[in-house]
Amino acid sequence: MFAMTENDDHQLRVSKIQNGTVIDHVRAGQALNVLAILGIDGSEGEEVSVGMNVPSDRFARKDIVKVEDRELSQDEVDVLSLIAPDATINIVREYDVVEKHRVDRPEVVEGVLSCPNAGCITTDDEPVTSRFEVLDDGVRCAYCGTIVREGIASLIDT
Ligand code: CTP
Ligand code: ZN
Repeated sequence: MFAMTENDDHQLRVSKIQNGTVIDHVRAGQALNVLAILGIDGSEGEEVSVGMNVPSDRFARKDIVKVEDRELSQDEVDVLSLIAPDATINIVREYDVVEKHRVDRPEVVEGVLSCPNAGCITTDDEPVTSRFEVLDDGVRCAYCGTIVREGIASLIDT
């Protein structure tokens, strides 16, 4: 990990990226879950920079994740919103931020999380697509009612 700051020339900073996505204003402590959601573990040569507990104007501390050569799908952004509700997604092309948007918490997420309840119809061999309602502090399976508040990233279907 790097010591990193956005606005102090006296400290080391993670360099700007040329093309890809900067996920900024991630809740401090959630950067590794962001990587889990994006399926990034470094094994495929992905070029990724992570800053953890970086001083921030908006919050006391934030995490930030920079991924080269990758733009995120709407499904990925939806799931990110569950663990990083204040995140900003910056699309970078040729060093410029060409798009910036806040994540939007969806009311439901379909087909991206798997229910942790082994008895749930969505975990059988039935062709049922998972469906979770998004709560203020977690998600609830629309089929069996199981509520998950911690560890949502571990439910991601890969
Ligand atoms: N960034 C980057 N590589 C680039 C361009 C931007 O890594 N080629 C990063 C910046 O370091 C910053 C984020 O992307 O963390 C957003 O960049 P920018 O919009 O220029 O910064 P701010 O105006 O500070 O963003 P905000 O208002 O969203 O805080
Ligand atoms: Zn269920």
